[in-house]
Amino acid sequence: MDWLALLIFAVITLGHTTLWISFVNRSHAWPLHCSQLRHLRHLHDLFIPLFPIILVWRVGLTGPNLLRGGSWANVSPVWWGVFAACAAGFVWLIWVCLRSLLRHPPEYQRSYDSIVYDIGKELGHRPVGRGPYHLLTKVPFNEQTLLEFSRKTLALPRLPEEWDGLTILHISDWHFAGSITRDYYEKVSEILAQEPVDLVCFTGDLIDDQDLVVWFPDTLGQLNGKYGSYFILGNHDWYQRPVETREALERLKWVDVSSRTLVLDIAGKTLELGGDETPWLGTVPEFTSSADFRLLLCHTPDHIPRVRKQDVDLMLSGHNHGGQVQLPVIGPVYSPSKYGVKYASGTFWEPPTLLHVSRGLAGCHPLRWRCKPEATILTLRRMS
Ligand SMILES: [Fe+2]
Repeated sequence: MDWLALLIFAVITLGHTTLWISFVNRSHAWPLHCSQLRHLRHLHDLFIPLFPIILVWRVGLTGPNLLRGGSWANVSPVWWGVFAACAAGFVWLIWVCLRSLLRHPPEYQRSYDSIVYDIGKELGHRPVGRGPYHLLTKVPFNEQTLLEFSRKTLALPRLPEEWDGLTILHISDWHFAGSITRDYYEKVSEILAQEPVDLVCFTGDLIDDQDLVVWFPDTLGQLNGKYGSYFILGNHDWYQRPVETREALERLKWVDVSSRTLVLDIAGKTLELGGDETPWLGTVPEFTSSADFRLLLCHTPDHIPRVRKQDVDLMLSGHNHGGQVQLPVIGPVYSPSKYGVKYASGTFWEPPTLLHVSRGLAGCHPLRWRCKPEATILTLRRMS
């Protein structure tokens, strides 16, 4: 056995896996229907384990026989092309790991603390139903039935003095699918409702089963901001019947801000609040007023370059779920974004915009490791 060749094969295989994951992440940023995306994921599921078998068989144990002391000079140009692409994938993997290890929240996030609730313990039973992929809830150490209720203080350069201490409950990606039961969401809503806030903002992906619209009154219906509760929808809502979803939320006095902006008067200062559900639904909202502050609810953080040009002060997003699984050293792996895992979750300063990406509460796959379901109270502070 040529151990050096085996090590190189391992590097090539890791690089190949990285390329497939990068492809799947980026393909999920496009407005493709879920059945098309499922086909792409199946290709990923097939080729990741198949590649090392073909590699060992065609190059390691036959052909140039590299694992048995054969010469690399006998490797065909096609395989050299494959090796070069996989080597680039491996370098990319190292870069992503380093970026994940070295990343810190920006100085504009002044504080962060949280309380973790075990909703199963609070209820006296595991809130797991028979919805899609429900067997994933049995995976050891799955955190899907927890809640991390976090509080972050954000300093904003252009926040009006009158709003110093303004609070926003940012919630996202609740994914009512039936795998996690109604009482989980009711309990979470009850916990969140105990904290009065000025604004409640939901940033999309509420429903994966349209019949579960009946859950709304006892869940989101419990949440009311002093200055209102606002929502946009996401790609999973697009897969269902979004008109019905909007109507059900509006019956609960939630305000749909998709594809538009509205101006609110808060303590004598004006807030222009917009909603962006593109590329799946609606159109890009135009900020046109000379309001004192601009806030955007945008399902995917991918639009950050455009949002910066719109001079938005604070952008709230979801969609990426924090990756749902965060590995030691590597960090998040899967994130449906054209930037891969860069904006999987957290706070990012992209001047002049402060971006907050929620990990959300659930997903159509009920599996979370080192990535707890999240709801966040953001306290806005004037930058001193
Ligand atoms: Fe989502």
